[in-house]
Amino acid sequence: MKLHHRKRSGDSSLGSIIFEAVHSPQGNAKAQIQDLQRRDDYGIRYELPMPKTAVISDIHSNLHALYAVMADYQCEQCTDVVCLGDVVGYNAYPQECVNEIRAIGCPVVKGNHDEEVVRFALALRDPDMRRELEVRMNPLARQAMEWNASCINDDSLTWLRRLPLQRIERSKFVMVHSCLDQPQAWNYILNANDAVGNFNRQFLPLCFHGHTHQPRVFTWDGRRSVELHEYWQQLRAEGQTVVPLQPGLKYFINVGSVGQPRDGDPRACYAIFDTEASTVTLRRVEYDVASAQQAVLAVGLPEYLAERLGNGQ
Ligand SMILES: [Fe+2]
Repeated sequence: MKLHHRKRSGDSSLGSIIFEAVHSPQGNAKAQIQDLQRRDDYGIRYELPMPKTAVISDIHSNLHALYAVMADYQCEQCTDVVCLGDVVGYNAYPQECVNEIRAIGCPVVKGNHDEEVVRFALALRDPDMRRELEVRMNPLARQAMEWNASCINDDSLTWLRRLPLQRIERSKFVMVHSCLDQPQAWNYILNANDAVGNFNRQFLPLCFHGHTHQPRVFTWDGRRSVELHEYWQQLRAEGQTVVPLQPGLKYFINVGSVGQPRDGDPRACYAIFDTEASTVTLRRVEYDVASAQQAVLAVGLPEYLAERLGNGQ
């Protein structure tokens, strides 16, 4: 769960992304963390508490967006990370994104694209299964999924296949890709009514999810489910919003998407859970969208996948 970066070679654009991530204008995040590690007068090492957890979701093979978010949460002095799934699918760097998430070593739950890419990888080796998928999916979605599946090595496919559907993290919060009632059905929680079923299965005050690629805050007071629109509006206007967690309420928070936002804002999105302040901060992060689009086109993926990165849809 500790943060660390790995340098790459061979791709100058990727190299520069990593360089910027590690040597950002806000300062070297690793050094910032080390700064907080001190020795007292007796030479005994201690660490100041840094109870901030970065919650990321729906990376979708967008390495440019992932590096920008990693740099941002390090500058925000997060020491823990969790990932809510859909590491792969849609964009140009499936294997690289799996590598990065595995290198972080953070808890991860499975998304529907993580599940589908394994199915497609099997279909690439089984003509009968391939014919079934050709009937079931539209050609453009199938093309992107097949390409992603063809890029991922067997070890990573095994890792994706074994991811759990949900997980309780340090007794503090629940993490799931879609929702806690029938997580394997991959239902989309788009409004307060949709969230009722989840709240009936949510026994901790806080649950994080993704899947719709739209940051949202839902609450449950024991009787009804409410969506708090003002946080999304502030996030859109100011690039950040802080949600104070009130005692007695349950929160079901969608952290948005790192690699393919769909709320009309192309900036990457994620959340920071501060256990001491008892807040969840939703953040938008600028990244090099043009390079991510070029990468999509360069590997021959459908043009509309590049376009949607530009308009956040
Ligand atoms: Fe997704």
